[in-house]
Amino acid sequence: MERQNDHNRPANGDGMTNAIIDVKSLTKKFGKKLVLDNVSVSIERGKTTVIIGPSGCGKTVLMKHFIVLQRPTTGEVSFDGQRIDHLSERELHSVRTRFGYLFQEGALFDSMSVAENIMFPIRQHFKDVKWSQIQEVVKAKLAMVGLDGFQNYYPASLSGGQRKRVALARAIALNPEVILYDEPTTGLDPIRSDIINELILKLERDLSVTSIVVTHDMKSAYKVADRIIMLHNGRIIADGNADHIRDHPHPTVQQFINGQVGEDDLAVLRMSGEVAASQFLPRDFQQ
Ligand SMILES: Nc1ncnc2c1ncn2[C@@H]1O[C@H](COP(=O)(O)OP(=O)(O)O)[C@@H](O)[C@H]1O
Ligand SMILES: [Mg+2]
Repeated sequence: MERQNDHNRPANGDGMTNAIIDVKSLTKKFGKKLVLDNVSVSIERGKTTVIIGPSGCGKTVLMKHFIVLQRPTTGEVSFDGQRIDHLSERELHSVRTRFGYLFQEGALFDSMSVAENIMFPIRQHFKDVKWSQIQEVVKAKLAMVGLDGFQNYYPASLSGGQRKRVALARAIALNPEVILYDEPTTGLDPIRSDIINELILKLERDLSVTSIVVTHDMKSAYKVADRIIMLHNGRIIADGNADHIRDHPHPTVQQFINGQVGEDDLAVLRMSGEVAASQFLPRDFQQ
């Protein structure tokens, strides 16, 4: 059942040297609400791409398109050279086994032990694997996140950071080629956040996976990213390495990375009630 990642596959032939995910002219509307506006992006194999942007700007929706948990209104999504946005749920099943995901809502099953949580995807996808083999995989995955020995614990008795790590062990149970992280450090204190950052780096190194991390934690973004993409109003407004983003001339990028409130938001605040703008001092909005 072990599947080796193959990073020597040829490029997908359309000029992108080493794209594993290719999104072309993706527009997503919910009713009349435009959430993604003609977004094109290629995700490089073996690298860590971080997607930043304010709450509600479409980060999670974009990430869900990568595994077709959302379907485009218009545009295309390809994975490993194959178009996937039109596949049936059944066909998507085998595509999705090549991904591991750590979603915000993707909590552990509380009624299952740590080991049972990690076994779950293995038993779903491989019906005839031996029990002893599964136990070995569980042990190896837990060791990878520093939690071997916690097999018989239940999620309720773990800290928030430990639960995230178990969820990560579950996400890597099937040896994914791509790991999607949606706000992996949200709700964790700085030290526990940094453990998650280190794990993201470690998994990239040890498993040669492609990582995609959605976050609004800039400390985490700078630490793990090979490349940072900023989404704003459904469009990509910045795309480059950490230095490129730090020095970016776009005022919206600077406001976001420095945790400052923008003019648009101030205008909304000024409109809502009789509050004088001067009451909103910059320090009120600093993290
Ligand atoms: N299933 C859905 N139906 C309707 N609107 C949605 C749905 N999913 C997301 N949205 C809307 O799309 C926008 C982007 O959401 P999301 O991608 O979750 O933002 P974030 O950048 O915070 O992850 C939000 O305005 C959200 O309300
Ligand atoms: Mg989100």
